[in-house]
Amino acid sequence: MTAIEPALDSDRTAIEALLTAAGLPLDGLTAALPAAVVARGKYAVVGCAAVEIHGSVGLLRSVCVAPDQRGTGLGRRLVTAAEETAASLGLTELYLLTETAEGWFPRLGYRVATRASVPAALTASPEFTGACPESAAVLRKRL
Ligand SMILES: CC(C)(COP(=O)(O)OP(=O)(O)OC[C@H]1O[C@@H](n2cnc3c(N)ncnc32)[C@H](O)[C@@H]1OP(=O)(O)O)[C@@H](O)C(=O)NCCC(=O)NCCS
Repeated sequence: MTAIEPALDSDRTAIEALLTAAGLPLDGLTAALPAAVVARGKYAVVGCAAVEIHGSVGLLRSVCVAPDQRGTGLGRRLVTAAEETAASLGLTELYLLTETAEGWFPRLGYRVATRASVPAALTASPEFTGACPESAAVLRKRL
């Protein structure tokens, strides 16, 4: 079974390639890598998820699975592992922005939120200030 593990610095290139291929932003990724997880296949990184930490809340971002590995539960396992990482770091709530998976995250317990409800610390993040367009949905989950 593909292992879900903390991301290493050496995984950055593979993570960037996954995100770029999926059209997801790289802006601000560096800040999220210390709390990132990867799905490590036999030969390559085949998925990732990361958390930007802003006080006691986090921004779940860069959730991505390689196209040929989708539909096998890796996305769910990556999000669960990222949530565990966030909780272990003392975060109480995760937010996310998505243009592509608004119908998927509710399966994992995320609920649609308004931008106005997002804590100010998060709205300063690169995803909110530009990388993700105004049209992206905001979802949140208490940990
Ligand atoms: C969204 C994503 C991470 C899901 O990963 P995954 O490994 O396929 O997810 P899982 O295997 O855990 O779940 C698969 C199930 O979710 C559904 N699903 C997958 N992506 C979905 C989406 N974007 N919207 C709605 N449902 C989706 C599948 O149809 C499947 O349903 P089933 O169980 O009824 O067959 C993956 O499709 C992906 O990398 N997409 C491109 C990047 C992206 O949009 N990331 C999210 C924004 S940050």
